[in-house]
Amino acid sequence: MHLLKDRGFVHPVASEITPKAVYLSRRRVWQGLAAGGAWAGLPALGGAQTARPGKLPPLPGARSSAAGATVMDKPTAYADATSYNNFYEFGTDKADPAQYAGALKTRPWTVAVEGEVKKPGNFDLDTLLKLSPMEERIYRLRCVEGWSMVIPWVGYSLSELIKRVEPTGNAKYLQFVTLADRQQMRGLASGSLDWPYTEGLRMDEAMHPLTLLAFGMYGEVLPNQNGAPVRMVLPWKYGFKSAKSIVRIRFVEKQPRTAWETAIPSEYGFYSNVNPKVDHPRWSQATERRIGEDGVFARKRPTLMFNGYEPQVGQLYAGMDLRKFY
Ligand code: MTE
Repeated sequence: MHLLKDRGFVHPVASEITPKAVYLSRRRVWQGLAAGGAWAGLPALGGAQTARPGKLPPLPGARSSAAGATVMDKPTAYADATSYNNFYEFGTDKADPAQYAGALKTRPWTVAVEGEVKKPGNFDLDTLLKLSPMEERIYRLRCVEGWSMVIPWVGYSLSELIKRVEPTGNAKYLQFVTLADRQQMRGLASGSLDWPYTEGLRMDEAMHPLTLLAFGMYGEVLPNQNGAPVRMVLPWKYGFKSAKSIVRIRFVEKQPRTAWETAIPSEYGFYSNVNPKVDHPRWSQATERRIGEDGVFARKRPTLMFNGYEPQVGQLYAGMDLRKFY
């Protein structure tokens, strides 16, 4: 390295200073390699963006090329993203999932894909993991309760799976059904929701490139409390649309009822797009608290239309009255 000397200080030449982002990404790739791709024979992929926490088996993903797939916001600390969760099957307190989901058996695991498709089938987890290359995507997740996180997910576009099963012309919507097992999920004993937890999407929403079928986060497989072994992530919708621990995907003609719509229809609709202009009946949706920024002086962040993904998804809702279709 050439060094410039002036007034006794030694500086590297400006052109030789590794930009911080490059340095970080090199370090992350190195950490990823050092951790070893020991899991399930998955190929080690370069270009990972996030340092691994080293808690669970690795699941690396290459940087996604989908527009909007990586936001510049600082990712939420892994400890926060895995200890402040909503997963009512394990209880309604934010700490319950981390405390009680550990025992959930996530292998063997099968996702049944059925309904209006030419090629229905039962996909076991290993088949799903190999269906398409894993990508890492850093998405904002905005919960309807007014908090948000930024999480580096690992998975691939749901469209990859949809294309394989060849939907018929009658497939207008998808319904996601998640695990409901009283033996393993203590929260099912309470009537907080109609089990199983279900969610739904319109076909064009499900086919959108940002719609992620996620198997991991922070370069590792999903922790149970975050929806292992496979969940949805819809970055422009409130967090509850992102169903965890999916066991069934149904292609249907009519708009399916969702768990939250069924529980409280006056408060939760089918679309649930993040919208700072449409308040929840009991609170404003104009601002949010970013988890990890909760000191006394932490400012609230303004909530963005479609959670900031409007350039990518706005067209899906052109001409719709978003007050009516909330
Ligand atoms: N999926 C199931 N099966 N059960 C749930 O209770 N909660 C939802 C969603 N998916 C939920 C679920 C809600 S309200 C949110 S905000 C997100 O999961 C939280 O995801 P995270 O814990 O990974 O941040």
